[in-house]
Amino acid sequence: MKNVIVGQSGGPTAVINASLYGVVKEALAHGEEIGHVYGMVHGIEGFLNGQYLDLGKELTAEELERLKLTPAAYLGSCRFKLPEDLGAEFYPQVFARFEELEIGYFFYIGGNDSMDTVSKLSRYGAQVGSPIRFIGIPKTIDNDLIETDHTPGFGSAAKYVASTVREIVLDATVYCQKAVTIIELMGRHAGWLTAASVLARKYPGDNPVLIYLPEADFDLEQFARDLEAALEKQNCVIVCVSEGISDKDGTFICEYGSEAALDNFGHKMLTGCGKVLEQFVRSRFGVKVRSVELNVSQRCSGMVVSATDVEEAARAGVNGVKMALKGTTGVMVGFARVSGAGEAYRMECRAVDVDQVCNREKAVPREWITGDGNDIGQAFIDYALPLIQGEARREMEDGLPKYLYRK
Ligand code: F6P
Repeated sequence: MKNVIVGQSGGPTAVINASLYGVVKEALAHGEEIGHVYGMVHGIEGFLNGQYLDLGKELTAEELERLKLTPAAYLGSCRFKLPEDLGAEFYPQVFARFEELEIGYFFYIGGNDSMDTVSKLSRYGAQVGSPIRFIGIPKTIDNDLIETDHTPGFGSAAKYVASTVREIVLDATVYCQKAVTIIELMGRHAGWLTAASVLARKYPGDNPVLIYLPEADFDLEQFARDLEAALEKQNCVIVCVSEGISDKDGTFICEYGSEAALDNFGHKMLTGCGKVLEQFVRSRFGVKVRSVELNVSQRCSGMVVSATDVEEAARAGVNGVKMALKGTTGVMVGFARVSGAGEAYRMECRAVDVDQVCNREKAVPREWITGDGNDIGQAFIDYALPLIQGEARREMEDGLPKYLYRK
């Protein structure tokens, strides 16, 4: 009989707790093989400092169900890079902690950086002959993990972005004056989430009329020409831009103001290109202009989750436990789209080599970006629509969503 340890890592999503729910529920259902189900508080970083809790004892059955529809990371998260050198002191230290808690199964819910953690721990484990099984459960609103059709968290964030952009369009078009609204969306170096703004359109030519992704070089003069042409056709122009757009020299547009700060993983914290473009449009065109940065609301809106995404996130957790119990290690749970052309959408989980996933990013295919690099084609719409389907039935209290909070 061995115990489970599960952690959450990286930026949260609206459904990362649904994956935690899946892991905990499935692990608790295997009482003959699994003893305790521990949760690391603040990921591997907190765990090293002795922060963990016993989720089997902590959560009632009712709370576990509430966890499924609670956004953000219930256990807390971290951005913590493990040493590259597997000979570093860090590894025996963390494995000693695993031994103290009699851990047999390790689950880490996260994106590329978190898969780097799973990869390093499983490689070290193999070196020292550890029987612990290491499994990565994918998550990220950025949808940039390779070896998987999509990632849990993306569908809900895409649904939120498309719904919110549709509402901003309604608001922005009430006056009969020339106006530009720039909406800045998350996603670092991959434009999946920004591309989702195209789903807000109700007919061809509807707003947002201009969409810019990091996968295509951004040029201010070309943008000015695109905008001029759009303003000739209509009074109100909505532009959606990814936080990570950069020019042909690789300089981020958000750095035209000031250099971006770095996070603990050494990634640039990309924010502010909407403001840069707002100032540019104001001085060049002299029209009313506003920029809106959706910021963390894209990843934490529990009210607009995709039911498909919630269920798939939970399935990823359940499948991770099943894989570990079968003896699999060093893998991430990947999603494969198994529906044929014209068939209803179906997804299956499969094990993918975590070493192949970590530290790599999946970009939006260049041929899905249309126009002069300022629009998104039908291929993306066909890909994304199934992922945003369905609404969650949630518990409410006093007119507000009822969420679960760590005690
Ligand atoms: O995890 C992905 C993400 O949400 C990106 O879209 C965004 O750029 C980044 O995290 C923000 O990170 P943080 O929450 O550390 O500021």
